[in-house]
Amino acid sequence: PADVRELLTSRIHDVPDYPKPGVLFKDITPLLADAKAFAVLTDVLADLAEQHGATKIVGLEARGFILGAPAAVRAGVGFVPVRKSGKLPGATLSQTYDLEYGSAQIEVHSAGFTEGDRVLVIDDVLATGGTAEASVQLIRRTGAEVAGVAILLELGFLEGRKRLERALAGAPLDVLVTV
Ligand code: PRP
Ligand code: MG
Repeated sequence: PADVRELLTSRIHDVPDYPKPGVLFKDITPLLADAKAFAVLTDVLADLAEQHGATKIVGLEARGFILGAPAAVRAGVGFVPVRKSGKLPGATLSQTYDLEYGSAQIEVHSAGFTEGDRVLVIDDVLATGGTAEASVQLIRRTGAEVAGVAILLELGFLEGRKRLERALAGAPLDVLVTV
């Protein structure tokens, strides 16, 4: 709803020229520091998990951890981290994806999901869509089903949505705020 969107939007601050000149960084730390706004965000994400019948929440390192973990507790489902390479001790599956310069790799524990799990992926920002797309591919390769992706903030001008929707192939994408 509009009032929720307004509250969340007002707590995401613009930081010009970060991390480099010409880039307008969207800083979510004021939202996290505001108990009311963080609780509202957590409730919205937990509701989406319930609506989509999720049995697990995946958070994408690092900022997706901050949003995903409390939502998992609130929704009463387990939390599974998708991490940047080399951080998980158990048997993992990994997925490589392209960045503007070079490539990145994310990993998940294969044992993180059990038969029949439906996974809601949570992250803070949808930019080029590369990170979220790779996470969808990674989760499916474990045999789990992707129940959807939920994102706090979409940078619409980067057109990551197209790429992510193609990967989702009909699974829902929920975005709370678009700029
Ligand atoms: C940022 C952001 C998203 C991703 C979006 O993560 O938190 O995860 O980029 O970009 P994309 O749509 O182009 O893939 P980043 O890895 O920069 O930092 P973090 O570890 O602080 O989350
Ligand atoms: Mg991130």
